[in-house]
Amino acid sequence: MDLRISFATVSYIAAIALFILSLSGLSQHESSRRGNTMGIVGMLLAMIATAALVPMDGYPALFGALIPGALIGSLLASRVAMTSMPELVAMLHSFVGMAAVLVGISNYLGPNHGLSGTELTIHDVEIYVGIFIGALTFTGSVMAFGKLNGKISGKPLMLPGRHLLNIAMIIAVVIFGVMFMQSAHTGGEMAHEGLMPLLIMTGIAGVLGIHMVMAIGGADMPVVVSMLNSYSGWAAAAAGFMLSNDLLIVTGALVGSSGAILSFIMCRAMNRSFISVILGGFGTGEGTAPAMSAEQQAGTYTSAEVDEVADMLETAKSVIIVPGYGVAVAQAQHTLAEMVKLLRAKNVNVRFGIHPVAGRLPGHMNVLLAEANVPYDIVFEMDELNHDFPTTDVALVIGANDIVNPAAQEDPTSPIAGMPVLEVWKAKIAVVMKRSMASGYAGIDNPLFYKENTRMLFGDAKKNVDALVAKLKG
Ligand code: TAP
Repeated sequence: MDLRISFATVSYIAAIALFILSLSGLSQHESSRRGNTMGIVGMLLAMIATAALVPMDGYPALFGALIPGALIGSLLASRVAMTSMPELVAMLHSFVGMAAVLVGISNYLGPNHGLSGTELTIHDVEIYVGIFIGALTFTGSVMAFGKLNGKISGKPLMLPGRHLLNIAMIIAVVIFGVMFMQSAHTGGEMAHEGLMPLLIMTGIAGVLGIHMVMAIGGADMPVVVSMLNSYSGWAAAAAGFMLSNDLLIVTGALVGSSGAILSFIMCRAMNRSFISVILGGFGTGEGTAPAMSAEQQAGTYTSAEVDEVADMLETAKSVIIVPGYGVAVAQAQHTLAEMVKLLRAKNVNVRFGIHPVAGRLPGHMNVLLAEANVPYDIVFEMDELNHDFPTTDVALVIGANDIVNPAAQEDPTSPIAGMPVLEVWKAKIAVVMKRSMASGYAGIDNPLFYKENTRMLFGDAKKNVDALVAKLKG
């Protein structure tokens, strides 16, 4: 057994190092594949080391859970469309939450391992807090999953006195916590008189998770998913404390803190304060784009044909392409990469401008462009080239809407007022490629479409880019 423990300790340290390297690799396009591989190797190592610690008679149960879990996980992950990734992530977070609840309850019902006094008190607090975070994460993630795939309405549920209701639930959690701590071990090790307050608190935390996420509109869902990601990390860290497993504590803390940082970055990119997201109520958010009625449209637009746009691109010195959600829907990334190659061969300076929340998940556009082998050195963050639009000949907006909406800067009453956007309207000409005049995720009209220097090229993004490629080749 000693050898196994030594092997597990060394493997855990290696796995922790691999997870940290993985996170740092994932922060750059160039190293993201390597980062992903490191994460996979780290997780494999962690699983092998943990299995090595399990006594032989535990193997049937271990593999009985591991094999079906791995099969179902691989099947789901291989089938999921890129646009449904946030749903899958939300579902996976709910499993982490549920696991933390189950680990907590079994830990309470199991033996104390000789703990007493302060150590036992700390252990009980770990159990109580771990179950609280786990139950909140579980129900909150299930609600987020339902909202993202449209099974539950994206509209925020605004119950009267909802903040008071949340506060009342938190007070109840504290009161039951005191009751749990007082009764957890009265009547001997196997009496479990604290089980009742523990289960009642679990129920309250579950309702709190449902209520908190139901109050948040569809437009804020990405932040919520990232926030639940953070919660699931803290739930895993709490489970690590309960099981005295250092790897789980460190991994949970890594997930918890990176999820919190990501939520913060996303809030900043959407110009929302973290607190206002948590308090809810923002977003019409059914997640689909309603067609603009004639009265809702704020002006007239000028449409263009493929030939005209191909000429503009060919004769331009500099072009900035701004991709959005529509590129993912149309799966236009490969033909787009081909178009860029053709333009670069004609000495046009082509660059991509990526908004932090373009698409439907963090890094969505970067993943699509990497998949199509677009060179990394022409892909820029919004802040890196926003100041270049006034000297750009053509800004080509493909399947994007909210992230290029000037209302964010020009209309203080707009729901997206203050959100940083790509200033495509400052280019000599802006071409917007989309299927109709429909709004984007935020459900609001876009004054860009009616600007004098804007041309609308209607149609599916893939079909139109295919047609542009054919024209440029001709
Ligand atoms: P959106 O504002 O949603 O606009 C996408 C546009 O693509 C739509 O207006 C749609 O217009 C067009 N489109 C859809 N399918 C198309 C196709 N096959 N061919 C051509 N065009 C197509 O997307 P965005 O500009 O990328 O902005 C992202 C929005 O999503 C932001 O509001 C953001 O806050 C939110 N959001 C972001 C995330 C993350 S983390 N990235 C997650 C969830 C939500 P038509 O219907 O007229 O074609």
